Amino acid sequence: MITKTKIWLSSPHMGGNEQNYVQEAFDTNWIAPLGPNVNAFEKSIEDYLGNSLKVAALSSGTGAIHLALELLGVTKEDDVICQSFTFSASANPITYLGANPIFVDSERDTWNISPILLEKAIKDGLLNGKKPKAIIAVHLYGMPYKVDAINEIASKYDIPVIEDSAEALGSTYKNRPCSGLGTIGILSFNGNKIITTSGGGALVAKSEELKKKAVFLATQARDNAPHYEHSHIGYNYRMSNVLAGIGRGQMEVIEDRVASRRGNYDYYKSKLGQIPELEFLNEPKENRSNRWLSCILVHSYEMREKIRLTLLDEDIESRPLWKPMHLQPVFKNCKIYTDGTSEDLFQRGLCLPSGSNLQKEDLDRVIEIILKVLAL
Ligand SMILES: Cc1ncc(COP(=O)(O)O)c(C=O)c1O
Repeated sequence: MITKTKIWLSSPHMGGNEQNYVQEAFDTNWIAPLGPNVNAFEKSIEDYLGNSLKVAALSSGTGAIHLALELLGVTKEDDVICQSFTFSASANPITYLGANPIFVDSERDTWNISPILLEKAIKDGLLNGKKPKAIIAVHLYGMPYKVDAINEIASKYDIPVIEDSAEALGSTYKNRPCSGLGTIGILSFNGNKIITTSGGGALVAKSEELKKKAVFLATQARDNAPHYEHSHIGYNYRMSNVLAGIGRGQMEVIEDRVASRRGNYDYYKSKLGQIPELEFLNEPKENRSNRWLSCILVHSYEMREKIRLTLLDEDIESRPLWKPMHLQPVFKNCKIYTDGTSEDLFQRGLCLPSGSNLQKEDLDRVIEIILKVLAL
C-alpha cells in the first residue's frame, strides 16, 4: 500500500546554511541572547528592508508588539485600536499594559483594517474625550493593508501606527517594504512564518535611537553603571545568538521563499480560479503580497467545512481564516466597530497548504480533492 505523506499548512523550510551559523555560535561559545549571529541577522534584515530601517532581534513578535506599545507610551486605561481580523497576538500585548483594545473590522479589498471604520472609532473616542493612543494595523496573510489611507487618518489625528508585519516579511506596498511603513514595525520568525528562527521576532525602527531604546527594554532596562542599576521596568525579550544563526541562514533564501509562496497562490488560482463557488483575494495594484498563506473563500460555511474535513481525512492540513478578536470570549467586553466583513470571512474562508517546500504533486493533491468535493 502506498501511504501518502502528510501535507502541512506551513512548515519550516531550511535553506542549508543554518546549521553552519549555529555551529559557529557553539565554536565561539556565544550561547547567549547577544553575539555575532544576532548582529549579523539584524544587519541582513536591515539590508533586505533598506530605507535606513533599524532592526532589533527579539524572542517573539508578540514581545515586539509589547515593546512597541511601551515605546509609544501606552499605559493603564489607554485605548488602543486594533484590527479585529487577526491572530490574538496582535491584541494581547495591549492588555499586558492594562490598556483597552478597541477593535475595528476589515474592508473587502485586502481583508485588513477598514479606513472608514477606523476613522469612526477615532472620532467616537474624541467625542468621549479619549483619543486612542495607538493603532495596530495588520498585513494579514502577507497582504498589505491600505497603507496610504491608514497613514493619512493616523496623521490627521496624530496617532502612531504599529505595523504588525508578522506575516508580511517580503511584502511591499508601492515598492516599499512592509514593516517600514508605519511608526514602528514588527516581524515574527515563528515556526510557521515565511522564514523562521523556530521562535523569534523583531522590532523595526526608523532610527538607531529607537532601536537602542527597544534593546534597552528588551534586556531588563539596565542603566549605564558597573553594577546592576535599574530606573525602569524591563523585559527579557532579546533573541538568542543560537537561534539568530538559523535566521542568518534563512535570510539567504528569503527571496526564494517569497517566490515559492507566490507560486503556490498562482498555481491554486490557475486551477481553481474559474470555479464560481470559490473566490481568491487579488492583489490591489499598489500591493505585492508574499502570499504567506494562500486563502480562498467558499460560497457557504457548510461547503468550506466539507472541503476542510475531506482534506483532513486525506492527511492534509488546512485552516479556517482567523476568528475575529471581537468574537473571542476573552475580548467579549471590548468595543467593536464592525460591518460584518470579518465575520463573513471567518465563516467562509480557508487557508490552503502554503509552505515554500511543497511540491507540485502536493498542490495537485489539494486541488483534486477540492474539485471532487465541489462536484458532489
Ligand atoms: C498577525 C500576527 N501578529 C503577531 C504574531 C506574533 O508573533 P510571534 O508568534 O512571533 O509571537 C503572529 C504570529 O504568530 C501573527 O500572525
